[in-house]
This record gives sequence, C-alpha cells and structure tokens, in this order.
Amino acid sequence: MGNLSRLLKESWTLVEEQQDKVAGYFYARMFLSNPHLRTLFPVHMDVQRARLLGAIVTAIQTLDDPERFEDYLRALGRDHRKFHVQPEHYDVVRDALLESLRTFAGEHWGVEYEQAWSDAYNVIAKKMMAGADADTNPPFWHAEVLSHERRSRDIAVFTLRPLQHTLEYRAGQYVSVEAPRYQPRLWRTYSMANAPRPDGTLDFHVRALGAGWVSSALVRRVKPGDLLRIAAPMGSMTLDRKSTRDIVCVAGGTGLAPIRALIEELTRYNRTRWVHVFFGAKDREDLYDLDELNRLAARHPWLSVVPACSDDKSFTGEQGNINDVVARFGPWENHDFFVSGSALMVKHTLRTLAEMQVPAVRIKYDAFGDI
Ligand SMILES: Cc1cc2nc3c(=O)[nH]c(=O)nc-3n(C[C@H](O)[C@H](O)[C@H](O)COP(=O)(O)OP(=O)(O)OC[C@H]3O[C@@H](n4cnc5c(N)ncnc54)[C@H](O)[C@@H]3O)c2cc1C
Ligand code: HEM
Repeated sequence: MGNLSRLLKESWTLVEEQQDKVAGYFYARMFLSNPHLRTLFPVHMDVQRARLLGAIVTAIQTLDDPERFEDYLRALGRDHRKFHVQPEHYDVVRDALLESLRTFAGEHWGVEYEQAWSDAYNVIAKKMMAGADADTNPPFWHAEVLSHERRSRDIAVFTLRPLQHTLEYRAGQYVSVEAPRYQPRLWRTYSMANAPRPDGTLDFHVRALGAGWVSSALVRRVKPGDLLRIAAPMGSMTLDRKSTRDIVCVAGGTGLAPIRALIEELTRYNRTRWVHVFFGAKDREDLYDLDELNRLAARHPWLSVVPACSDDKSFTGEQGNINDVVARFGPWENHDFFVSGSALMVKHTLRTLAEMQVPAVRIKYDAFGDI
C-alpha cells in the first residue's frame, strides 16, 4: 500500500464511527457557506444524507486502483453536469470535507492527513472536471413517456423518446433517470432494454422497491405524456464483436433489461454464437418478459432461454436460485458471461462462476446496488 493510501485509510479510522455526524456537519458547513448549493441536492436530505460524502470518501479511498480510475472519474464528472455542478463548486466541497474530518478526528488529526486528503481530492476533482469539460453532450436530455405498461405488481415496462438530438449509447449501457414531476433532483440508474433504434426510443424495465423513491414513482405514478430527464449513457457491459465465444446471459428480475438490449443487438448480426439466457425470479409473475424472450428464441435458432423460479413451487420450469440453475447446466469455461440483477444475485452468480473456473476476464456484470 502506498504512503498516500496508508494515510487516507489510517486517518479515516479516526472518524469512521461517527460517519453520520461527519455527514451532517459536512452538509451544514457547505450549505451555510454557500446557501445556493442547497438547490442542487434532493429535497429529502434525511434519506439521502450520506450519498455525496460517502461517494467522495469511497472514491478517495480507492485511489490506488489506477486501472479503472481515469475512465470512471471522467464519466462521473461528465455525469455531475446533470446536478448543475460547476467547476467552482469543487473547492467548496473540498473545504467542507476537510473541515468536517478535522473537526471529528480531534487531536489525532495532523498536517500530513490534511495534505493527503487534499491531494487525493484534488486529483479526483481534476479528472472529474476534465471529463465534464470535454463532454459535448447536453447535461441531460428531456424525454417523453410514450407508453407505460404494468407487467406485474411491482414491475413496469415503459418507452421514452428523447426530445433533443439523438442520445448515442451501446446495448448493455444504462442512464441516470429523474422524474422531476414526482421526485425532483433524485437520480437513479436504469438500463436501456433495447439496442439503439433509428427513432431513438428507449425501453426500460423497472421494479418498484418497497420504500424506493424513484422506482416507485417510475412504476406507479409515471404515465404517457410525462417528461422525464435522462443523463449520458454509462457502463461497459457491452458486446465484444471480435469475440467468437458462445455467450451466457444471467438475469435476475429487471436485470433482464440490459440483457434484452444485448440480445436485440445480436439479432442484427449474429449467426455463429450460441446464446444461452438464464432468467430468474421469485415467482412466475416476476418473469415479466418471458413470453417475448420465448418469441425471440423461436425466431433465432442460436438463442435458448431457461427461466427459473426460486419461490414458486407451481412453476413447471427450473426451480432454485438462478446461479444454481446456471451451475446445473454447465460447464461453461469457454463462454463470455453477462450478469445483471440485484447485488445479492450478482454476488452469488460471480461466486458460482468462480467455483466453475470461469475466468473473471470473461465476465461482465452490472449489479443494481453495492456488492
Ligand atoms: C448500473 C445499474 C443499473 C440499474 N438498472 C436497473 C434497471 O434496469 N431496472 C431496475 O428496476 N433497477 C435498476 N437499477 C437499480 C436502480 O438504480 C435503483 O437503485 C432502484 O430502482 C432503487 O431506487 P429507489 O430510488 O426506488 O430506492 P432508494 O430510494 O434508493 O432506496 C430507498 C429504500 O428502498 C429500499 N431498497 C433499496 N434497494 C433495495 C433492494 N435492492 N431490495 C429491497 N429494498 C431496497 C431500502 O429500504 C432503501 O432504503 C440499476 C442500478 C444500477 C447500479
Ligand atoms: C471528489 C469530488 C466528488 C466525487 C468523487 C463525487 C462523487 C459522487 C457520487 C459517486 C455520487 C452518487 C452519484 C449518483 O447517485 O448518481 C454523487 C452525487 C452527488 N454529487 Fe458528487 N462528487 C464530487 C463532487 C461534487 C461536487 C463538487 C458537487 C457540487 C456541490 C457534487 C454534487 C453532487 C450531488 C448534488 C449529488 C446527488 C446527491 C444525492 O442524490 O443525494 N459532487 N457524487
């Protein structure tokens, strides 16, 4: 571990147990010195409180991972334009961060720690600002809801049409979405469920989570004619057209969205690669897109679909968690993998694939939360 990294980790232990208080102080300090910054943040700061501070601390603590660092931070900076963040805000946030750490670390805080956090923050901020500066896209697109269909208790499938010039993306990517009419300034990421189309329309599959702010609005309140906002596409769970390996897709619930996009792209050119889709859910109702998947499989001989339920004994297909089902159908050492779903589902699937000796470089995944 480098010296900078050691100083950052060591000093964080001084405040770690008081994270909530540090976060409260951080926001109070920032909004007191710059009241206009409050309008950038969500209305309900109690729920969201630790989001920005937590994100900055995580970014700073993982600074010793140069491989993913540059691209991620440039994309993050570019993405911050949707929050109306300006270059001059970075110093304000840094000063609030340093003052919060200093205040809660107490007598153990020293000039070395202060310098380490300042240096690390500045490197990150510079990359984020460079990413934002280089972006020629608008900070976000307005998009009209063209159709909205409830597919189960908690799942909706809807289609958007961006109003400004075409939003370019690759199948498998995701965007941040805001529903300003219902949950202003709350942005969450959702994967496009279709490959890019000439008319620019985008499909989404969203599950409303119990107390979830944005997902509930998208599933239960949004209707055709509403305007949503979407930010620049992100993500690297995309197809490698040079690969000749067969493909296994593992989707849990609405984790099917980016997999559907990948399949749609494959329908445009694939002739030679077998594609096996494993689609898991708790019960039959949550296999909300199985009929369409089966239709695609009937049209394309290279595509096979294995649905599974973990909690529905009446379901006549495979039973069990999707990672166990995938394991039953192996071996899979020579395949490219795409895995998408809840954090738990992705975690279990990655573990199963490791046990099955699938090389990590062949696995691309998106988890709908921290794993
Ligand atoms: C790369 C990426 C792509 C994604 N793509 C999709 C997609 O295509 N479709 C889709 O439906 N979602 C997708 N998500 C998840 C999505 O971004 C949101 O995290 C999710 O919709 C919850 O947002 P929310 O505002 O409703 O909940 P929040 O307001 O963020 O959460 C509020 C509360 O909801 C509850 N909650 C949150 N998460 C869970 C959970 N997993 N299980 C149970 N309770 C929970 C908790 O009580 C939490 O405190 C994706 C996430 C990522 C990172
Ligand atoms: C080192 C610098 C920074 C890092 C690493 C960072 C990182 C992050 C990350 C990872 C998120 C969560 C992204 C998401 O949910 O879409 C976030 C959210 C946010 N950031 Fe930053 N950020 C930085 C600087 C700033 C600055 C200078 C501002 C301007 C005030 C800012 C404003 C916001 C806002 C408004 C949110 C949304 C908060 C919420 O939803 O509660 N960030 N940041």
